[in-house]
Amino acid sequence: MATERPTRNDRGRSGVFRTKTVEQSIRDTEEPEHVLKKSLSALDLTVFGVGVVIGTGIFVLTGKVAKETAGPSVALSFVLAGIVCALAALCYAEFASTVPVAGSAYTFSYASLGELPAWIIGWDLILELALGCAVVSVGWSGYIRSLLDTAGWHFPAALSGPHHGDFGFDLLACLLVLVLTGILIAGMKLSSRVTAVVVGVKVTVVLLVIIAGSFFVSGANYDPFIPPSQGTAGGSGLAAPLSQLLFGFTPSQFGVMGIFSAAAVVFFAFIGFDIVATAAEETHNPQRDVPRGILGSLAICTVLYVAVSIVVTGMEKYTRLSVDAPLADAFKDAGQPFWAGLISFGAAVGLTAVCMILLLGQSRVFFAMSRDGLLPRVFSTVHPRFGTPYRSTLLLGGIVAVVAGFTSIDVLAELVNIGTLFAFIVVALGVILLRRARPDLPRAFRTPFVPAVPVLSVLASLWLMLNLPAETWLRFAVWMALGVVVYFAYGKRHSRVAAEAARSGGR
Ligand code: ALA
Repeated sequence: MATERPTRNDRGRSGVFRTKTVEQSIRDTEEPEHVLKKSLSALDLTVFGVGVVIGTGIFVLTGKVAKETAGPSVALSFVLAGIVCALAALCYAEFASTVPVAGSAYTFSYASLGELPAWIIGWDLILELALGCAVVSVGWSGYIRSLLDTAGWHFPAALSGPHHGDFGFDLLACLLVLVLTGILIAGMKLSSRVTAVVVGVKVTVVLLVIIAGSFFVSGANYDPFIPPSQGTAGGSGLAAPLSQLLFGFTPSQFGVMGIFSAAAVVFFAFIGFDIVATAAEETHNPQRDVPRGILGSLAICTVLYVAVSIVVTGMEKYTRLSVDAPLADAFKDAGQPFWAGLISFGAAVGLTAVCMILLLGQSRVFFAMSRDGLLPRVFSTVHPRFGTPYRSTLLLGGIVAVVAGFTSIDVLAELVNIGTLFAFIVVALGVILLRRARPDLPRAFRTPFVPAVPVLSVLASLWLMLNLPAETWLRFAVWMALGVVVYFAYGKRHSRVAAEAARSGGR
């Protein structure tokens, strides 16, 4: 610490707003027992990004949202959600290229906003990554059961997860998470190879939907493209979007407002591009490769989503779309069961990769928090042979497996969205603050038009958050309040930055 040039950021920051310097963050990654293998390239990162981003969002939510909220204009919702993510990506890319260590938004916040905000963001990332993984594994299980059904073997209902409030355990989802946990512990390189194959299958299936599906498109299905607004029965109260409650709108579906409500849901389809940033520490050349990986995977996915939603809503009237497996069912209804089966298989394979990468991202955030002493240090020791943070991976994999087994996905998906949008806001604010506090730091990638782009990113993310139901906001508030309690009960007292500051006679 003593050799570092004092900065405005270092002076006068104490207690829960103490910051970890960027130099300290990078130095931590060089301690031998806490070193992760640097084995990833820009291409690996892009594959990672695409691998995690294309998943339940496009394969499942597209149909539900088109049918219930936006009609064919769901394509516009994808564009809106893509713009929100692009703004956030420009901020993530600057942070990731400035602070190339494990932990993503958590690490960035520690270097700019301070320890409590960093803890809050780390706690929030649990919502995004661990719950996101649980959601996707449940979606995966549904596709596998649908394939088994086609083959004439019906999976026992009691082992198919909770349905309509009835008790049930989703055995397949639980097993998937446990197997993936084992693969991740066995080593980064192995998992990225497996991921590359799986991503190839998934992208092929998406292209298949777009190309083969375009032969079955009928122009009449696009009329009306934006269905007229209609009131909802029982859509008021806590189930209504917070924006409607705040601004006194009558709760409604479809119309222009429907495009926004749909955007807040299909946003789930974009979640994951930020995880590329969590792998920065395991990248050969993070300054160059991380921004490329983030922006590249986001651009590819946006184009594919818009194309898929236009094709699917053109193949079938939005009112008739299926909500469980809309892409495959559109082909079934067009009299193409072979293609439908292939798409279901590809979707199941693709969701495996999404699940694995979400789990990987989560274990790395946990690893970084533990290395900083905010969580017990035992979780940041890497495996002597595999070079992976095996304890945090094992713990989180176990918890996610249980959650996936017992939870239904709807409520969780909205909670994942609100948590992720909140992280976007913190990162965008962090870019502005870090530019002011540490203008001297080398930035391989600079967000353009600061502060305009970060401010727009904050506003856009907030707008999507406001389009989520009020009850989602309540659940989110409870989770975050719990996090603050845990911080004051454990993290604050075990913080490594605090201990070092005390040793050097400083803060
Ligand atoms: N974006 C990922 C999905 O759609 C989480 O499943």
